[in-house]
Amino acid sequence: MPARPQAEGPGGDRLSTAFTAGEQQWQARLGKLRDVVRQEMVTRQLARELPAPPVRLIDLGCGQGTQALRLARSGYDVTGVDASADLLARFGRDLAAEPAEVRGRVRAERARIEDYAERAGVSHFPAVLCHGVLMYLDDPGPVLRAIARLTSPGGVASLLVRNGDALAMRPGLLGDWATCAEAFGTDRYANRIGLSARGDRLGDLTGRLAAHGLEVTAWYGVRVFTDAAADDAAPPPDLAALLDCEERAGRTDPYRQVAALLHVIARRPDGGKIAP
Ligand SMILES: C[S@@+](CC[C@H](N)C(=O)[O-])C[C@H]1O[C@@H](n2cnc3c(N)ncnc32)[C@H](O)[C@@H]1O
Repeated sequence: MPARPQAEGPGGDRLSTAFTAGEQQWQARLGKLRDVVRQEMVTRQLARELPAPPVRLIDLGCGQGTQALRLARSGYDVTGVDASADLLARFGRDLAAEPAEVRGRVRAERARIEDYAERAGVSHFPAVLCHGVLMYLDDPGPVLRAIARLTSPGGVASLLVRNGDALAMRPGLLGDWATCAEAFGTDRYANRIGLSARGDRLGDLTGRLAAHGLEVTAWYGVRVFTDAAADDAAPPPDLAALLDCEERAGRTDPYRQVAALLHVIARRPDGGKIAP
């Protein structure tokens, strides 16, 4: 397996996505408080939900590879797939600083999620991750199909989506009442990196996943208390206590219901069929 992400891809620069216009802003905010909370919650929740390593997993829309790297350090064999040459290059730089055994557990490919499995000729994985991608897709159908196609019988899929049931929370907490009023009646929102994006309602997503043979077995809220923090807010000195409170709220009703993001865990039963 290649030890470093490969920036070349079959589509070259034609691999731009709806996310591409916000990529620089995204990169500028990596390591800031809102990103730290998001990544740390996902890491903790995955530790509860994934089978213990060694296990092969695929991270669809891996971006800069935050979770992929952490999982590889924990002993997982990780394939990352992303359309962005810049983010894969950043992933490659971070990976290069890791010990050889970690590097050897990672490969990354520049590709579109939607047709990656067919192009690469890969089959199933016991764990499939797709975090922070669905909100950029007007029609999430093809990516949900790709996630389902890649999840093996007995396998688990992990999705991180914008919480479409609580889109009024962010503008309300920021005191933007015009946007807040509109948010009650739409699944669209303008996100913090300047893109028009889409929320998913938990009930709708559960139904869509069920149609692909994936049963939602757990869900968490991500960023309950810190979603309205400034874009450039740095992690505070009491970060550990903050993260513990976020984690507790993320698995506790009613707090998790109004989180900015939903971390949804779905499983294909043993012997469950995979649609072609
Ligand atoms: C918000 S970033 C999330 C990155 C990472 N998963 C995380 O949670 O930190 C979204 C990523 O999805 C990628 N992406 C969006 N649509 C894609 C598609 N159709 N095929 C491949 N990658 C896509 C973008 O290039 C970007 O790296």
